[in-house]
Amino acid sequence: MSEMVFESVTDLERVANALHRAQKITALTGAGVSAASGIPTFRGADGLWKKVRAETLATPEAFENDPKLVWEWYDWRRQMVAGARPNAAHDVLAQWTREQSGFTLITQNVDGLHEKAGTERLIRLHGSIWHVRCWQRCTAGRRDWRDDTTPFPTLPPRCPHCGGIVRPAVVWFGESLDASDVARATEATDCEVFLTIGTSAVVYPAAGLVHQAKRRGAFTVEINLEPTEASHVVDVALHGPAEKILTNLAALGRSGSD
Ligand code: OAD
Repeated sequence: MSEMVFESVTDLERVANALHRAQKITALTGAGVSAASGIPTFRGADGLWKKVRAETLATPEAFENDPKLVWEWYDWRRQMVAGARPNAAHDVLAQWTREQSGFTLITQNVDGLHEKAGTERLIRLHGSIWHVRCWQRCTAGRRDWRDDTTPFPTLPPRCPHCGGIVRPAVVWFGESLDASDVARATEATDCEVFLTIGTSAVVYPAAGLVHQAKRRGAFTVEINLEPTEASHVVDVALHGPAEKILTNLAALGRSGSD
């Protein structure tokens, strides 16, 4: 049975035309782009934050209090993500970054699926679930490193340099984002087309990027399953699964919809 996509053809064509003409395009993605890969979103109907309270797991205080419990949650998510494949949404976006040097992708996702799809110039605002760093901030373990071990034989995993515990290199509630990532993302809002895709647009500073892009004169587009906080800000809102809408936009681009 084919799925219905609730979007107006005219709006889809407007977006395809804008993408076709633009030299500088920026897209911001959220958990919705990985939904079709089987990764639960945070705030959707079956979202992760519906089952656990963010403050009980995704804060430095929670980690300080019970690192094993926090790691059990991340270890479970790492195992889930390890078996996941990029879907059409990741593939279309990755292809656009490879084909157009002016296309920048910013993601709030930590799952690594944009990287797996071969994305270029990716800005990861919330870190990576595949990276860790020393919780004690020992000199050698202060910088993030990649560790693909899954599942970890014992939790919490240990720092190979000092023997202390390591933490996931993701941004937790109450923590600052990496200043250089924020600077690069802010710079990327100076674009002709800005797409906000698969995000509920409630977590700042990421959610502020579409506002900045609009102020700087970009044509702004939301692609999301349902209306969000960004819907009233954007020039066009396309509501439906991102993997379908992006596939349709890519097909319109190929057929030269100008
Ligand atoms: P959310 O879970 O808040 O929002 C995901 C959005 O994707 C929802 O609006 C869904 O309707 C939509 N969605 C679901 N399936 C979709 C599909 N197939 N196509 C298009 N849209 C779909 O996730 P984020 O906005 O990414 O931060 O959450 C932002 C941040 O909050 C996360 O990075 C995480 C979380 O707390 C940290 O962990 C720091």
